[in-house]
Amino acid sequence: MSKYITTPIYYVNGEAHIGHAYTTFIADSMARYEKLKGEDTYFLTGTDEHGQKIEESAQKSGKPTQEFADEISASFKNLWDEFEISYDKFIRTTDKEHKIGVQKAFEVMYNKGDIYKDFYEGHYCVSCETFFTEMQLVDGEFCPDCGRSTNVIKEESYFFRLSKYEDALLKHYSDNPDFIMPRSRANEVINFVKGGLRDLSVTRTSFTLGVKMPESIKDDKHVMYVWLDALMNYITALGYGAAEEKMRYWPASVQFVGKDILRFHAIYWPAFLMSLDLPLPKHIGAHGWWTRDGEKMSKSKGNVISPKQVADAYGVENLRYFMLREVPFGQDGDFSQRAFIDRINSELSNDLGNLLNRIIGMSGKYSDFEIDSVDVLKYHKKEIDAMNLVLDSLDAFMQNFQTHRYLEELWRLFSIGNKAIEEHAPWVKMKENRKDEALATVALVANILAKASIMLHPIMPHTTNTIADALNFNIDNSSYKELILDKKLLKLFNIKVVPPLFPRVEEPLMPEAPLAQPNANKEIAQEAEKCSRKQDNLIEIGQFFETSLKVGIVVAAEEVPKSNKLLKLQVDLGEDKPRQVVAGIREFYSAESLINTQVCVVANLKPAKLMGMVSEGMLLAAKDEDGLCLIRPEKPKKVGTPIG
Ligand code: MSP
Repeated sequence: MSKYITTPIYYVNGEAHIGHAYTTFIADSMARYEKLKGEDTYFLTGTDEHGQKIEESAQKSGKPTQEFADEISASFKNLWDEFEISYDKFIRTTDKEHKIGVQKAFEVMYNKGDIYKDFYEGHYCVSCETFFTEMQLVDGEFCPDCGRSTNVIKEESYFFRLSKYEDALLKHYSDNPDFIMPRSRANEVINFVKGGLRDLSVTRTSFTLGVKMPESIKDDKHVMYVWLDALMNYITALGYGAAEEKMRYWPASVQFVGKDILRFHAIYWPAFLMSLDLPLPKHIGAHGWWTRDGEKMSKSKGNVISPKQVADAYGVENLRYFMLREVPFGQDGDFSQRAFIDRINSELSNDLGNLLNRIIGMSGKYSDFEIDSVDVLKYHKKEIDAMNLVLDSLDAFMQNFQTHRYLEELWRLFSIGNKAIEEHAPWVKMKENRKDEALATVALVANILAKASIMLHPIMPHTTNTIADALNFNIDNSSYKELILDKKLLKLFNIKVVPPLFPRVEEPLMPEAPLAQPNANKEIAQEAEKCSRKQDNLIEIGQFFETSLKVGIVVAAEEVPKSNKLLKLQVDLGEDKPRQVVAGIREFYSAESLINTQVCVVANLKPAKLMGMVSEGMLLAAKDEDGLCLIRPEKPKKVGTPIG
């Protein structure tokens, strides 16, 4: 079965940042993994070049729109080329074939009766290229997604009958629980659809930078809505509407997106596909956000980290390793130079690099760089079994996009290798004239390194080729089959000396400022690291007691209309009247289930306004990839009891 893997197409309103690099690295690693397994795989990335946001950015730059788009699109493509991203096609929405494909799709949906003309009046956020209803706005004006001011727009528009697909979408989610990955993200989508879908305005008359209407409809004032245009890239890249020879790759096996654009991919996109009578992608893989100093990074905020700068300082493969190892798929991650250096030094340099050096050194010393595997099974059955168990477990992690678990497990192989060397001490065996045994251990570890580098290849292609070169074999589909699937050992190693792969990093290689830690105080942060509590900044006990935490009981709870996330609770803290707490927990708790249950409340927060409602406290909760749970007293306590 063929595989089709996509990244979102990136807006050309600014240079690539680390968030874009992350999506691209995951997709690239997945595509390389499938190719290594011998799957017929097609990997797509590209740029999104239409819409009001790009039109405005081009105007600001003073350049003609196309020239502006050409430059930024090229900067993405050049960067991916420099990073050796293995895409099979780089699509631009300004490509002629793409526009033809979008017009074709529009025509098909129109002829089916799924697109009709009407008037639209609504609040438009240019930054998110999305309409919102009055109720969805924060304080009647601001975009609920990015917080920017919205504009009121009334215009003639063509509408897509999104509402018609409500039931079919809900059925699809329930029949295919892995459609949205990680699964914990599915609830927010399902609740959104259950909340009722309004038909979607899919054309604009207020600007011109977009795909024109199909000839057959002839309505030149309209251009297509940028999201309709952009989402279609996933099929126009395969020739939809023109030469369809690549359409055999459809449906996509996985479409990677950031959590912010999940709704477009998990609701609008499948509805469009249903209307086009095309199958839906197998998975939409939604990853979290990379923050800087705990803050969302975005081109429009201007607080971005350049992946080129990081790669120049630390090497692109180290960056790939770090990003894929550091963050569980679906969760947010904070980019810290310190954490990056730690992983380079301990995991890459110590665990992997040193193991290779030891094998190069011992093989040279004991047998002139030539070792065979004849005695490995005789002396190392236990290690071989342990190694095979690890290797067998890896595929499942990759299929679930859990790259951090994949790498974590893969690293067990190096522990098996290092432990075998310590336990069997080949240098002692050599002294005792037990050369066969000594060489069997060296050969065991050489085999471990060979197999591990095959599995690490999709994430660190060059580095692993260097390891393969040192061990004198090639990483390709046939070595994958022999060494991983058939579990064979490499018969003979002619070992070559290669320079150390991962020089230790002693000092940050980039200026601290752009990668500063949250609340950066360097000394405190360093102290915290010594205590192996890398994520936390140490505080004085007094600082902790500045926070008033209290046990409360929920006496009333209701859903906040038009919000998928919020519940409005009345929480008794033993004061003269219950406090109103607006909490973003609706995806995880129903209002009824909370009544009469105890919660822990931060009681001295300044009141905040959420969707126009005052919130006078915050509930303690813990959230991981499996969802959110409230932190509650183990046994019931009197309301108002202080926690600390
Ligand atoms: N053009 C649309 C996508 C259309 S796909 C049919 C778009 N472009 S974008 O350039 O704004 O974002 C592209 C991707 O980068 C999104 O998946 C987004 O989630 C991701 N990221 C942007 N900033 C990010 C972080 N700070 N961290 C992680 N990923 C983030 O949306």
